[in-house]
Amino acid sequence: MAIHFNHTILLARDSKTSADFLADMLGLPAPRRWGPFYMVTTDNDANLDYMDTEDEIVRQHYAFLVGDGEFEAIFNRIRERNLRYWADPGQRKPSETNDHDNGRGVYFEDPNGHLVEIITRAYGSGGWNP
Ligand SMILES: [Fe+2]
Repeated sequence: MAIHFNHTILLARDSKTSADFLADMLGLPAPRRWGPFYMVTTDNDANLDYMDTEDEIVRQHYAFLVGDGEFEAIFNRIRERNLRYWADPGQRKPSETNDHDNGRGVYFEDPNGHLVEIITRAYGSGGWNP
């Protein structure tokens, strides 16, 4: 058996709202409740498990490789909802996308400030190297 990334935990103020947001934005099936988590499952069967906390939330970064059509649909949702978005992880290029590796990429935040990235080409696949 090979090694596949399986799950991670994202701390949230409201795990259900957060999981619903991410699933809606990415166009994935509705989150499932399991134990203390609301789980968002990607097409490669990785789970992002939102869990409630009252403690400080340290912002994390999650990137998703998406198809060109999915990128367009997600980016449309970002704009329809008037969400802020950036071309870069440092959030110094607002209201822009990037074309790294001859693809498209953009960053936006989930309700907890976790930085979500969507890209249409894997890092370095087109020769981009920051
Ligand atoms: Fe990234």
